[in-house]
Amino acid sequence: MDKLQIVGGKRLQGEIAISGAKNAALPILCAGLLTAQDVKLTNVPHLHDVKTMLKLLAQTGLSVEQDGESVTLNGANINNLVAPYEMVKTMRASILVLGPLLARFGEAKVSLPGGCAIGSRPVDQHIKGLRQMGAEISIEGGYIHAKCARLKGARIHTDMITVTGTENLLMAAALAEGETVLENAAREPEVTDLAHLLVKMGAKIDGIGTDRLVIQGVNELKGASHGVISDRIEAGTFLCAVAATGGDIVLTRTRTDILDVALDKLREMGVELTLGENTIRARMDKRPRAVSFRTTEYPGFPTDMQAQFMAVDAIAEGASRVTETIFENRFMHVQELNRLGAAIEIDGNTAFIQGVDRLVGAPVMATDLRASASLVIAGMAAQGTTLIDRIYHLDRGYDQMEVKLSAVGADIVRIK
Ligand code: EPU
Repeated sequence: MDKLQIVGGKRLQGEIAISGAKNAALPILCAGLLTAQDVKLTNVPHLHDVKTMLKLLAQTGLSVEQDGESVTLNGANINNLVAPYEMVKTMRASILVLGPLLARFGEAKVSLPGGCAIGSRPVDQHIKGLRQMGAEISIEGGYIHAKCARLKGARIHTDMITVTGTENLLMAAALAEGETVLENAAREPEVTDLAHLLVKMGAKIDGIGTDRLVIQGVNELKGASHGVISDRIEAGTFLCAVAATGGDIVLTRTRTDILDVALDKLREMGVELTLGENTIRARMDKRPRAVSFRTTEYPGFPTDMQAQFMAVDAIAEGASRVTETIFENRFMHVQELNRLGAAIEIDGNTAFIQGVDRLVGAPVMATDLRASASLVIAGMAAQGTTLIDRIYHLDRGYDQMEVKLSAVGADIVRIK
């Protein structure tokens, strides 16, 4: 199992190009199932989760051609409507094939995702919405088996805001008969990016970017070309890294308009930000100031950035309080940060952080994707050497993180 070895205390300086967003690429790849024509995608990040998704899609009969960051999909010969347990258990986003397969072929059998390190993460809202659209759904042998001659438009109000739930229902509604209204829809930029691709494919969607999506179903969707939106969480992670280590970095191929809250919090920490059209320059020359926040759905503070900001808070001046409202168990990084010398206590869904003068490197264990990123940041800010085990979590969602960070001066190597 690969590990990352980090020698802390290095200032960061230089340019980092941001990759396409994992959480946009995954649903967008599934949209390839909705048409018999070519869907041509660019800016698809090199990630383990993308590989897993392409493997899952290929076994349905979807043709996949990959050339660097470009992927061309063709769904003319889909012949298998099953997403097997072996694949779904490694990546929950596999559930995103359910809506498209059911809508286009009238049937889908998708393994029910199991438990997850950050919370129980049920998919009941995906199922509820599809049932409201007329699907007959049974759960048998660990599989969601959905059937319907043609989905019918419906008014769906999900109990909570769900990102992949909105995406699944949006893709299903695009090919349903009549009008679907998705109330309480997720507004994350990744949902919006998927909606933009669907419109290029011929879908009729109103309210894109709002919490009320109105979809007029069409009989068929056509091929389209699309560039995946830049990864705001990857960008935010590197900005946290410079907040923790100090330095002067420029992020390129990024988007400044989808990072609002995170940028405000970084400024509050003392990071000097200069925003260009697709660039962000971040300068930091002092100890960060502690910031408190509460995670919420977009446009609030993203749960996917909670762990990375907490790593900065760990060495910041002052005390802070971080409340996680999206997932019930997303504090697995806290014990590991404390092994590096952080002073963090948890009470329910709130973490109380007393900033310490210094962290000291130690062996630590990555437990999930964003927790791994927070340990990388903490390791880069710590004195001495940090060894991070189980970094396969990191490879699921960051495109060559250690390569990008060493290029700007971090002392970080992968140990095979
Ligand atoms: N929920 C339900 N029932 C459902 C769906 C969701 O109870 O049917 C609950 C979840 O358990 C959770 C909350 O609703 O407590 C929100 O979950 P959501 O469905 O929005 O999460 P997701 O779609 O499974 C996506 C991202 C996550 C990100 C969350 C929240 C993808 C592939 N994944 O997950 O990304 O944290 O939205 O923004 O888009 C990550 O990248 O590290 C990651 C975990």
